[in-house]
Amino acid sequence: MVGGLDQGLGEGVNAPEIRKEVCRAYSGFADEYVSATHSYEPFPGLEDELRTFASDLPGSRFLDLGCGSGRDGLLLAKLGFDVVFADFSLPMLHHGPGSARARWLVCCDVLGLPFCEGAFSGVLLSGVLLHLPRSQCRDALVGVRKILDGRGRVLMSMKRGTGEGWRVAGSIPKRRWFSYYAPDEFAEICESARLVIDRVTVSDREDWFTVTAGRYDI
Ligand SMILES: C[S@@+](CC[C@H](N)C(=O)[O-])C[C@H]1O[C@@H](n2cnc3c(N)ncnc32)[C@H](O)[C@@H]1O
Repeated sequence: MVGGLDQGLGEGVNAPEIRKEVCRAYSGFADEYVSATHSYEPFPGLEDELRTFASDLPGSRFLDLGCGSGRDGLLLAKLGFDVVFADFSLPMLHHGPGSARARWLVCCDVLGLPFCEGAFSGVLLSGVLLHLPRSQCRDALVGVRKILDGRGRVLMSMKRGTGEGWRVAGSIPKRRWFSYYAPDEFAEICESARLVIDRVTVSDREDWFTVTAGRYDI
């Protein structure tokens, strides 16, 4: 075991199978995950980060992608945004934003987004892309860029480090896939997907960092 990871991406490991297993892990413990993450209390600074991001978005159409409990999208809905909640785990949508009677719930994978080009002014990907094998990260970012409107922006939270592999951590007692990046390295992948970086911030919260980027093609 290297750097807390149980297993690297070896020969023959199948990226779609990884996503299926991650989805099963979240789906099997959706109730527990929602209870552990629905409030901002255990995550100092997170609410302010989100409010700051939301304060200068160019419009009101917002996607909380990989929404989990829906904590962040629900805050934005209270602030007046039209929020779509999306997650590839149906139980997560049910226990999270669904139980708060959120209006728009979409079950989808970040690698196959069922939205029109330019559909959103803002997209949040908090703790989501870190569950993709590194080889799939750029493709996901290309898809996210496409659904932003010309002046739209995305906020992404990722974990600092190196390598990728299976790990059992936090409130989910099943292994999940984690891919770690240096902040500059992740910013470069965003740029290779033609996103324009606004800001890279190393957070005070554990090993998190955030990247804000825009489409900026009008
Ligand atoms: C670490 S949780 C973060 C939840 C929420 N964004 C938050 O910050 O509390 C990751 C969420 O992303 C979802 N997810 C992971 N990989 C995904 C994928 N490929 N497509 C869509 N959702 C995904 C999981 O089901 C889970 O709800």
